Amino acid sequence: MSENLAVVEEIYDSKRIFNLNEIRKDFPILSREVNGKPLVYLDNAASSQKPQSVIDAVTHFYTHENANIHRGLHFLSEYATESYESARLKVKEHINAMSVSEIIFVRSATEAINLVSNSLGDMNFFDEGDEIIISTMEHHANIVPWQMLAKKKNLLLKIVPINDKGEIIFEEFEKLISEKTKLVSIVHVSNALGTINPVREIIKTAHSFNIPVLLDGAQAMPHFKVDVQSLDCDFYVFSGHKMYGPTGIGILYGKTFYLDKMPPYQGGGDMIREVTFEKTTYDDLPHKFEAGTPNIAGGIGLGAAIDYFNQFDEIDMLNHENEILKYVTEKMSEIEGLRIIGTAENKSAVVSFVIDDIHPYDIGTIIDTDGIAIRTGHHCTQPLNKFFGLPATARASFAFYNTLEEVDKLIKGIYKVKRMFS
Ligand SMILES: Cc1ncc(COP(=O)(O)O)c(C=O)c1O
Repeated sequence: MSENLAVVEEIYDSKRIFNLNEIRKDFPILSREVNGKPLVYLDNAASSQKPQSVIDAVTHFYTHENANIHRGLHFLSEYATESYESARLKVKEHINAMSVSEIIFVRSATEAINLVSNSLGDMNFFDEGDEIIISTMEHHANIVPWQMLAKKKNLLLKIVPINDKGEIIFEEFEKLISEKTKLVSIVHVSNALGTINPVREIIKTAHSFNIPVLLDGAQAMPHFKVDVQSLDCDFYVFSGHKMYGPTGIGILYGKTFYLDKMPPYQGGGDMIREVTFEKTTYDDLPHKFEAGTPNIAGGIGLGAAIDYFNQFDEIDMLNHENEILKYVTEKMSEIEGLRIIGTAENKSAVVSFVIDDIHPYDIGTIIDTDGIAIRTGHHCTQPLNKFFGLPATARASFAFYNTLEEVDKLIKGIYKVKRMFS
């Protein structure tokens, strides 16, 4: 065997076999019942479930390691600091950042975007009249912070249009770029439509005009590996709780080039080098952006979630999710009066839908009685809903632990709803 082949085999051998029955056992909540029926959890885009290893990591921290970090010389403080910083290293390696100083622990994707908008706003990155490009399909988390900044600094938000399938119209994006464009902030994968945006092309185009790009990766990270150096994005944000980790922890990745120049977002302990009543000097990256006691257990839990994800071959997970997407799309297409909202060519396993004359809330409420959890409402994308002329939709969003049998239960549930309203 050649040396290369041996290495490949070793990597392959080190990955866990994608066995759905075994995988589901890793997630204790998946074996519970809801309303007397086995839980069918199809609200993963809102928040994913947690494997036992993540739950154990959080419990282990509080049971054996709990202390504040970066500030004690005693054993536990040093131990906790090491665990937290090793989680940062896991994030760095997982997204292939250049350095751990580019990994900022925050509360969530939402906080990460607020950090960037506030900090760029404070450093006079924007001049009056400058423009920020976002798209029609943004989550409110990637609209409102920019709107708030635009109001403060007299900026303009330019909105990339989408087509009826829910895809960005690339030529229109290109047309929006002007000498006043200072930032492009775009969702990687849409939470409401499942659309996977052509972010590589967007970044390439923006960079050809020296415009930095922020990617909202909240819905990408649970499904596939992201390589920030290969994408060449300037900022990348995501939340732990959507990628099988704890709530209350998220990540801002930023290129050192920008983070170095950006002022802190919040002030307090742990982000300083020296404080006098006259002035404060700030710590180096990443601590400059991490004021106060962080969510230590959350960071450690996120590290455990990354370890869990990386046990599997990413291709196996993606193939399974794509099989689910294909199956649910086919089954839903057979249902009279049901319309899928978001039919992009390049899509992740999220299916939003409406049914003639039946309110999405009724769909969600009725199938919940059978233990099936889906999301109904505007999905924090009200401008997108307006584009489709729909105040609300129902949404089934899948994770790699979902099964085709669960899709069958969802479809059966939808037929039941239809019967009740016929
Ligand atoms: C695409 C997208 N961006 C941002 C967010 C905000 O995430 P969080 O509430 O965890 O900050 C979400 C949450 O649904 C999302 O789907």
